[in-house]
Amino acid sequence: MNNFDILSKLQKRKIDLSDIEWPRFDLSKIQWSRMPKLRIGDSVAKLPIVQGGMGVGISLSGLASAVANEGGIGVIAANSIGMLDPDYYASHKDANAIALRKEIRKAKEMSSGIIGVNIMVAVQDFSALLMVAIEEKVDMVFLGAGLPLKGIPVGALRAAGVKVVPIVSSARAAGLIFRSWLKKYEDVPDAVVVEGPKAGGHLGFKVDQIDDPDFALECILPDVVTVVKDYEDKFRRNIPVIAAGGVFTGTDIYNLFKLGASGVQMGTKFVATHECDANIRFKESYLACSEDDLEIIKSPVGMPGRAIKGRFLKDISAGKKMRIKCAWKCLKSCDIKTARYCISLALDNARKGILENGFVFAGTNAFRIKNIISVKELLEELQKQYLCAREKGAGSLRSEYERALGKLRSLKEEYLTALKNGVNSLKDNYERDIEKGVIPFREEYLAVLDKINSLMSEYLKAVNNANSLKDELTKLIEQYSLFNRLHNETI
Ligand SMILES: Cc1cc2nc3c(=O)[nH]c(=O)nc-3n(C[C@H](O)[C@H](O)[C@H](O)COP(=O)(O)O)c2cc1C
Repeated sequence: MNNFDILSKLQKRKIDLSDIEWPRFDLSKIQWSRMPKLRIGDSVAKLPIVQGGMGVGISLSGLASAVANEGGIGVIAANSIGMLDPDYYASHKDANAIALRKEIRKAKEMSSGIIGVNIMVAVQDFSALLMVAIEEKVDMVFLGAGLPLKGIPVGALRAAGVKVVPIVSSARAAGLIFRSWLKKYEDVPDAVVVEGPKAGGHLGFKVDQIDDPDFALECILPDVVTVVKDYEDKFRRNIPVIAAGGVFTGTDIYNLFKLGASGVQMGTKFVATHECDANIRFKESYLACSEDDLEIIKSPVGMPGRAIKGRFLKDISAGKKMRIKCAWKCLKSCDIKTARYCISLALDNARKGILENGFVFAGTNAFRIKNIISVKELLEELQKQYLCAREKGAGSLRSEYERALGKLRSLKEEYLTALKNGVNSLKDNYERDIEKGVIPFREEYLAVLDKINSLMSEYLKAVNNANSLKDELTKLIEQYSLFNRLHNETI
């Protein structure tokens, strides 16, 4: 290569640094006044908080309507709800449909907010309960404890305006449901709850996965978000992912939102409210329990569950078999011959406060609950904590961005100086060498080129980093429609 070519090539490598604009963000003008809303289909909840369905009879019209009245999504648990009827053993499974209808109507009388129904796929009368939810036109159904793949009356659900939200514990399960729905129904669910292993009640994990960090909610949530994103693009529809299991404070909510969640589902905290439909003894067992009192049990549903230790569970694990009066085979997986107890009856006894003959489901955080408060107080506390965490998060994001801009500025100077010095000294050397009649300054040229190249790639990396911080801040500020006002000062 001709030495003149080498010089001109080196100068052409110079990248244009002048036309990048870096906005300055003034966060002090922002009013961090509220949490983002949660939109599921055409239902828009003022608060992105779903009260998880809790059976048997823990979340009925009382709790669900209280949550809906405060702007969250209130959910009635349908499984074995017929046990509210003293004649349950005479009327069998019809009692569930009758009681569910009654509770939905009651909840709707008490609230004009968003009311959902939680139905376990594992129950024998799944389709009948789903039909009641459709006939009563609830806002949405949450389908857990099994995958809602077959026999879903999608046409009837759509006609009644009932949104469908499956509950999953992995991206694989979410993918399976969405693929199967697309194939069978040419449609997809409206949102997804991803429930991690810290939840109360039945868990969609093998026992050895429960404490494995690879299965933690923070690990599985982003994967579910990725799976759902493909379908959002395909159907041009917003499909929110709702995170559940171990959500305790507004800071937890903020952190889960950063991982891609658009809402949270909470159970344990709602148990310790005045409006929760369980007997006071059930709630007080949360206040009394310690961390060591929480254990994983094997349930006749065929899944592990998290519950508070007690006499009943101790007897069961010691091998005792309770007398079972089976009204009808309510659970697909339950075998009356081998089951040691009737889980519906045990849970119903606990609901009524007869803890000696039953047990209490609870999440890992139950021991952190110190008092019983109202739903309104709980939701206000969560909002306050969330807003505080978001303000702090935005502040540290802004400092990180400012630091990135500082680095960018010094790298830019270093790069331009290296380029100028490199070219000038090469030019001097070249002219000196020509005078001396020697040509070989190629080695030196290559060393300079290397330095410039590495500075350039470091600079480009810093540009990318600053860009992504800028995007994050911009997104945050766009939520408040203040973007234009704050976007006018550039460096
Ligand atoms: C007492 C209790 C009963 C529950 N019953 C059900 C149920 O019937 N169906 C269901 O899908 N989830 C059930 N869950 C799970 C909750 O809906 C919710 O997803 C879970 O509690 C979230 O975790 P957290 O308790 O750590 O907030 C239950 C949880 C508790 C604590």
